[in-house]
Amino acid sequence: MLKTTIEQVHKHVGEEVTIGAWLANKRSSGKIAFLQLRDGTGFMQGVVVKSNVSEDVFALAKNMTQESSLYVTGTIVEDTRSPLGYEMQVSSLEVIHESVDYPITPKEHGPEFLLDHRHLWLRSKKQHAIMKVRNEIIRATYEFFNSNGYTKVDPPILTGSSAEGTTELFHTKYFEEDAYLSQSGQLYMEAAAMAFGKVFSFGPTFRAEKSKTRRHLIEFWMIEPEMAFMDHDDSLQVQEQYVSHVVQSVLQNCKIELQTLGRDVSKLEAIQAPFPRITYDDAIQILKEKGFDDIEWGEDFGAPHETAIAESFNKPVFITHYPLEIKAFYMKPDPERPDVALCADLIAPEGYGEIIGGSQRIDDLQLMEQRYEEHDLTGDAYQWYLELRKYGSVPHSGFGLGLERTVAWICGIEHVRETIPFPRLLNRLYP
Ligand code: 4AD
Ligand code: MG
Repeated sequence: MLKTTIEQVHKHVGEEVTIGAWLANKRSSGKIAFLQLRDGTGFMQGVVVKSNVSEDVFALAKNMTQESSLYVTGTIVEDTRSPLGYEMQVSSLEVIHESVDYPITPKEHGPEFLLDHRHLWLRSKKQHAIMKVRNEIIRATYEFFNSNGYTKVDPPILTGSSAEGTTELFHTKYFEEDAYLSQSGQLYMEAAAMAFGKVFSFGPTFRAEKSKTRRHLIEFWMIEPEMAFMDHDDSLQVQEQYVSHVVQSVLQNCKIELQTLGRDVSKLEAIQAPFPRITYDDAIQILKEKGFDDIEWGEDFGAPHETAIAESFNKPVFITHYPLEIKAFYMKPDPERPDVALCADLIAPEGYGEIIGGSQRIDDLQLMEQRYEEHDLTGDAYQWYLELRKYGSVPHSGFGLGLERTVAWICGIEHVRETIPFPRLLNRLYP
């Protein structure tokens, strides 16, 4: 018998095939059983008609329990009502393993219960769709950077210092020394850009922030490109092209998943470069007009501010030129106005907030040394980073895109905890 997968059934219309699957759900009457099958590649209905199969097979179909594993054999036929477009007319079944009392039933469950059962929850249709979109974003990311002359370089995860100059770090012992889990690979990516020109990284990032919002994870994945000989404006162009490519790739390659998620695709179709740019000063103005009376120049924006600003746009919007004071030590001051940085945050539409933070970096040795003093970055840990400004320093820029926030936005789901296979949250390290 020809073995195939649900993803491939379109190639086998009219043929009899066998698929290894699990029973996601089931409906049956005296004469017919509808099996909702999943095999990891997708979801498909199997129809078992009593008069077409042996008595044993029909009894198996009627009595099979949720999440039992099976080999199912039958003929693939077109079915215009299902998102997949095909179903199977089942001729025989073989149970591999019978599942007893599967905890996640078709009824509603609360989020804590589902998170406690994340190892099983991943099997359900919506979670499957989210992970498939995540995978497509990762694929399109590699495609974009590989086809635009970037080299992937992997920064270390165990580091001797803080990349963002903040204290939200996970500490660990490194034999006799102190070490921290990386909160950004950026500083290493700057070294890599001086060796390879245009580089990108994709890896786990750790933030020991006590934040408990729908946008914060303790462990998340970040894509960090860094480009030699590119200024702030050049970097914004890369960002808008990259984000557009990712969204258009998901639209093209995840049609079934977006349908499963009930995503309004017209909102995603609008995501094409260029994206609007406003300055931090403009943003303060917009906020005041929208009734945020107490926001003062020099304050950072919170989620409600970002949401209010994004309301005016149907594309992601760059907020540029933030006050230098509230940004990281490595950002280059605007030569025309040194109290603001050559930087931008990219704010997603529909209330999803900041998905990218980026900037042009200081390339002048003296200025960087001055920053070290101001930020109290003493000791050996940052010496190598200064040397990048000593030996053939060039203008360079880079940015970091948070994968999970991007997945949440593209999928149109409420909380980042569903966008990563096993979320690490303030109160959750299980499973
Ligand atoms: O703005 P951030 O902190 O920027 C950096 O780390 C820079 N060093 C990046 C660079 O220029 N190479 O983080 C970048 C992005 C944010 O815009 C957000 O999308 C995501 O990372 N992010 C988080 N995602 C989930 N949970 C958290 N706790 C996050 N913190 C940041
Ligand atoms: Mg940021």
